[in-house]
Order: sequence, then structure tokens, then C-alpha cells
Amino acid sequence: MRDKIIDLELQASALEPNSEERQVFRDRVVAYTERFIDTIEENKAFNYTEDQGAGLYSSPISEEPISIDDALTLFEEHVEKPGLNPASGGHLAYVPGGGIYHASLGDYIAAITNRYAGVFYPSPGAVRMTNMLIRWMADLVEYPDSAAGNLCSGGSIANLTAIVTARDAKGIKGADYHRCVIYTTSQTHHSIDKAINIAGMSEAHRTYVEVDESYQMVSAALEKQITEDKENGLIPWLVVGSAGTTDVGAIDPLKEIGQIAKKNNLWFHIDGAYGGFFSLTRKGKELLNGIQLSDSIVMDPHKGLFLPYGLGVLLVKERKHLQYTHRYSAAYFQDVVEAEDELSPADISPELTKHFRALRLWMPLKLCGTKPFRACLEEKLLLAQYFHDKMAEMAGFEVGQVPKLSVATFRYVPESGDANAFNKKLLQKILEDGRIFLSSTDLEGRFTLRLAVLSFRSHLRTIDLALEIIAAKTAEILNS
Ligand SMILES: Cc1ncc(COP(=O)(O)O)c(C=O)c1O
Repeated sequence: MRDKIIDLELQASALEPNSEERQVFRDRVVAYTERFIDTIEENKAFNYTEDQGAGLYSSPISEEPISIDDALTLFEEHVEKPGLNPASGGHLAYVPGGGIYHASLGDYIAAITNRYAGVFYPSPGAVRMTNMLIRWMADLVEYPDSAAGNLCSGGSIANLTAIVTARDAKGIKGADYHRCVIYTTSQTHHSIDKAINIAGMSEAHRTYVEVDESYQMVSAALEKQITEDKENGLIPWLVVGSAGTTDVGAIDPLKEIGQIAKKNNLWFHIDGAYGGFFSLTRKGKELLNGIQLSDSIVMDPHKGLFLPYGLGVLLVKERKHLQYTHRYSAAYFQDVVEAEDELSPADISPELTKHFRALRLWMPLKLCGTKPFRACLEEKLLLAQYFHDKMAEMAGFEVGQVPKLSVATFRYVPESGDANAFNKKLLQKILEDGRIFLSSTDLEGRFTLRLAVLSFRSHLRTIDLALEIIAAKTAEILNS
């Protein structure tokens, strides 16, 4: 048996490369990523390729290894090249972010040291770092000391965690689901609807409260509906306000919603996945006033703090609600010593084994300080405004409301013919060019183009390029 074990150790030794082998891997990976960053401005934001990455299948997972050079070539050809480059400043669609370099260093160290970040007892430092970041964000939204929160993979999972916490906090049981009411608007992110379904609450009533011309919830309509619902024997349970909608960047009247929710005993959740971190700026702070009245809020560092994908945050004003829904133990945890002053993430979130997500956020915040984040967010607000103003001057274009945050909408209105078809074609042409990547949405039947500025790599020159491309592609269609 000993011989067999020793032989297996030898066979498995590739799993622990020695220092020279590590150096080769590291040099190649660093050379690759340096080239990626150094050429990012010359490269397209969006690339149509023939096979859309299917060439990856030509190298199936097998018993035998390939070299680091071959692995990087496969990655470059079939993953980096086709489709969207979300790291590009030209990514101006959906909700960009970018992926700041410092976060990659945090991920690198987190992966190598593999610190467990779920429970204080085995990993006090990692848990303290997590809690310290949660506290920093809780301060940003003026939550009291009783607040707690969770670092998760993104806004959708953060919203889901909020929904189940809100359900339990308000004592909603299965037998009540068909009577309870959720108030959102037509602009609320679909991850909320998805979360309701995943939580098993698809029978609940969903009321899309009226919005005004800026796509913001009309608070008087909310209050009226709550009163009517109560009279009809329903249970008004949850109101979701948006701190920046995805479509147009609208901000619901958070203060008024907060007051209505309090008066009527509703849970007030805010989806600030896109807009929450604008609280770092003076303008954002003013616009998001009322955020502190919420019971829970979601903010995505992989959007508003420009982190690489994989970090969303849920904050809950009263930690006891998170604990009530998520705290469980097991016999094999009998040795765990509870910390008196620190919450363990596993007690307030669905995960047990957890990626050490804090490090990818702590590293950039410590290495840069918060100042450049604030400046970058302010720059984005101004860039959206600049784009909006320039588009408003461009002949034939209709623009949406002045951007509250960093999303601007616009569409070409041809003198004759189908405006929706024209704008669809315009978007297609912009994507074929590929230097910038835009997306569209449907606003009351109008095919509308949107430009969302949130990549830390989008600057004045990017927006000027976008304006130039939009003008040139419009002219091409008109002249064809
Ligand atoms: C307002 C809003 N909420 C929630 C989400 C979902 O976040 P994620 O994609 O991180 O799951 C998004 C994504 O764009 C969003 O814009």
C-alpha cells in the first residue's frame, strides 16, 4: 500500500508546480495580461467571429496536459476574441464596470492563500476584513450599527437573499403567499421577479405601480394601492424601489417610499445594484436621499466600483433578520468558537464555503483610496450628461430625459418609415463596427438606444468616438 500511495503522490505532483514552473506560468500569464491591458484602447469592444468560440471544443478536457502557451492561445482565440470585451472602455451597453487591475491581485492572493471566509473561528482576519467592508458600505448609506450584510456573486443573488429575508422578517408563511402583495414598477430589474419565483412565492400579487414621465414610481399611486389592497383583505408586504433603473437610470422617490412603507408596515427594499455607489459623489448622495429609510439595499461593486464580475452586496438594516433566515448549525461544527464582536458570513447568508470576496474589494480600496473612485463616478455622471447634450443637438435624434445618473437614451426619428426598424439597423451597424458596444431597450413600444457609462475606462475620448460613430452610421443608412 505504501508503494501505491507514493506512486500516486508522484502522479499527482503536477498539482504542485515547483518554483521554476510557477515562474514560467506566471511570466506567461503576466505577459498575456499586460498585452491585453496595453492594447485595450486599440482593440474592439465587440467582435463578431465566425465560430463564436466553438473552436474551444477542438481541445477537449483529457488525461493529458497542454502547455501554458497553448492554453493561453486557446483562451485568446476562443474566449477573449469573440463577443463583448467587458473590460473595454467602449463597453457602453447594459451596465458596464470594467474590472480594475488591483482587484485581480486580491483574487490572486485569495486563490493562493485560499482563506476560508465563512466563519470567524477558522479565519478571523478574512471575516474581519469582510465585516469592515460591509461597515464601510453601511456607513455610505447611513445604516445604523445594527446593520449587517453579505458579499455575494452579484446583484441577482443579493436581491434573492433580500427577498427571503424580507419574507421571514414580516412573518409571511406559505399559506399567506396568495394574499401578499409586492409593489414594484415596470422598470424594476427582472432579478426581483426571478427572486420572488425562486423563493417559491409566485402566487404573490405583483403590482406594477404607475411611473411618471421619468419612469420613477409615483408615490401617491403606491399609497393609494396599498390602502385599496388592505381594504380588499390582501397583505401589502414588500415595496422595491430602484436606485438607478437599468433601462434609463431612473431613481424612485426613495424618501417618500420609505415613509409610506414605514406607515404601512411594509419591508422597503432598494435595488441599487447599478446606482447605489453613486452615493460616493455629492450629486449621487443628494439624488439617493431616502436610501437610509430602506430595510435592505443591494449595491454591486462589479458595477459601481468597477470590480471584475463576481461581487454584489446586500446590506440589511437590522442584522437579526439576516440571522433569523440564515443561521443554522451542524454537529460537525461543535468545536466552532463563536466570536463575540464579529458576525460570521455563514450565519447571515446562504453560503457556507465561500470565496474570499472581500480581498478583491479591499485591495483596490486600500491601494487607491476612495478618492479616485469618487472622481471616476463623477466623471461618469458628467460623461452621460455630455453625451445627452450632444445627442440633443444632433439632427434627427430624439433624446430621453436628462440622465439622472449615467444612462442616456436616444433614437433617430426618420422623416418617413419605421423608426423602430431604423434604430435596430443603426444598432446593428454600430455593433458591426465594434469599436463601441451599445444596447437597446423597449420604452412603451419604442425601440430605444441606450448608452450606459460606467466602465472606469470610458472617458471623454470614448464618448466623442461614440458620437462620431453614431453620426457616421446614421449617415450610412440615410445614404444607402
Ligand atoms: C438595477 C439592477 N439590479 C440587479 C441587477 C442584477 O445584477 P447581477 O447581474 O449582478 O446579477 C442588475 C444588472 O444589471 C441591475 O442593473
